Amino acid sequence: MDGLSTSIIGRAQDKGLLSVEAINIRDFAENKHNRVDDYTYGGGAGMLMQAGPVYGAYQSVVEKAQSKPRVIYLSPQGQTFSQSMAEEFAKEQELIFLCGHYEGIDERVLEEIVTDYVSIGDYVLTGGELPAMVMIDAISRLIPGVLHNDVSAEFESFQDNLLEYPQYTRPEEWHGKKVPEILLSGHHANVEKWRREQSIIRTAQRRPDLLEKAELSEKEKELAKKHLQNTK
Ligand code: ADE
Repeated sequence: MDGLSTSIIGRAQDKGLLSVEAINIRDFAENKHNRVDDYTYGGGAGMLMQAGPVYGAYQSVVEKAQSKPRVIYLSPQGQTFSQSMAEEFAKEQELIFLCGHYEGIDERVLEEIVTDYVSIGDYVLTGGELPAMVMIDAISRLIPGVLHNDVSAEFESFQDNLLEYPQYTRPEEWHGKKVPEILLSGHHANVEKWRREQSIIRTAQRRPDLLEKAELSEKEKELAKKHLQNTK
């Protein structure tokens, strides 16, 4: 699928760690003109994707599948996609992403085949393809072997519902700004302590909504509170 054939996800596909196949619903049109949409009953502007072609496309995928895969319908009406959902979907052998177009899909086929309604955020896009690619990217990088460094998928933003601490590489000084002294100390325990504190401060300042779900000691809660107040 275009957009998923380069870089990390592309290499993962080359290595056989995952595969992505695009199915064109138009190939399952039930008329000579390859039309898959029609006017909506009850009137109103716009067209609706018909149940038949969507179901035909679905069946063609399910026939080849090992088991009955979950069917994710990308829609602003879905549950908001999150890292924990990505982790859950990454455990599945196969997934079907059903991408509608701005006009939507006949409700009856959705009732019959969709297992998960997922949105990637509270804004409206013209179709489900980009949201599907966003989800495929987030899910794929959790598959063992896709990232070179297994730990980097663990210790990153949203680990423990905290944002990642700031990071630095060479040179030691750039535009007059020095790398925090503690990171040059070689004292592993102190570095870890500093990073944890920075994660808490950063989350308090940038994503205070995440703190409720983070597991913090009493001392850490105090630290977070101090930086919450500073932002208001
Ligand atoms: N289709 C259109 N907008 C969308 C969104 N925000 N998330 C998922 N699918 C969509």
